Amino acid sequence: KTSNYYSVTLLHWYDRHHRELPWRITPVAAKAGFFANPYHVWLSEVMLQQTTVQAVKPYFAKFLSLWPKVEDLAAAPSGDVMAAWAGLGYYARARNLKKCAEAVANEHGGIFPDTEAGLKALPGIGDYTAAAVAAIAFNRQAAVMDGNVERVISRLFTIDAPLPGSKPQMKAKVAELTPSDRPGDFAQAMMDLGATICTPKRPACALCPFNSHCLALAKDDPERFPVKAPK
Ligand code: ADE
Repeated sequence: KTSNYYSVTLLHWYDRHHRELPWRITPVAAKAGFFANPYHVWLSEVMLQQTTVQAVKPYFAKFLSLWPKVEDLAAAPSGDVMAAWAGLGYYARARNLKKCAEAVANEHGGIFPDTEAGLKALPGIGDYTAAAVAAIAFNRQAAVMDGNVERVISRLFTIDAPLPGSKPQMKAKVAELTPSDRPGDFAQAMMDLGATICTPKRPACALCPFNSHCLALAKDDPERFPVKAPK
């Protein structure tokens, strides 16, 4: 079983400060061995890729009331799905959503694959979504990287190489820190820390569980990270 200073500290913070979101189960439930609904986790992660948590909430509720199970979404007319998606933007995602639902319903008996590799084999599921669903819905030790996580990692370790080239280095760091115990909570905790404390502008370092170990805070300017390549 792997754990480390960062995972223990972050999970302790998450136990007290996690956000309650409609697609999540609580840390207490997760520790008791319950799992989040993979359909809910997948749907939320696809929606969250281009949209904020607050904007996603009503769409998530609407989709679940119209299509409570992945089989319902698979059977829905494409036009209805596109209409329900209207306002979320990036409509290719809605088309991929429908294709993926059809694959799960028709080729997997309505059951989402429970590994990163199995998920990545589905249409429209890329590295990010596969890792997020594997970790959050199935408690797999997958390294989940999004913009929030890149910001936290680049500041903690003062990663000076610019994005996007530094992504592999940062993903390796996340993989190294992700514990075998509670990897799903760890992934969600990294995202919550990035969204609520380790923000792009004026991060709330006084409230951060890592403020005594963050290299950017100790000897640099947290706002300088993540470094980005000039366009
Ligand atoms: N952004 C994308 N996925 C998220 C998640 N599971 N929790 C919080 N913020 C997120």
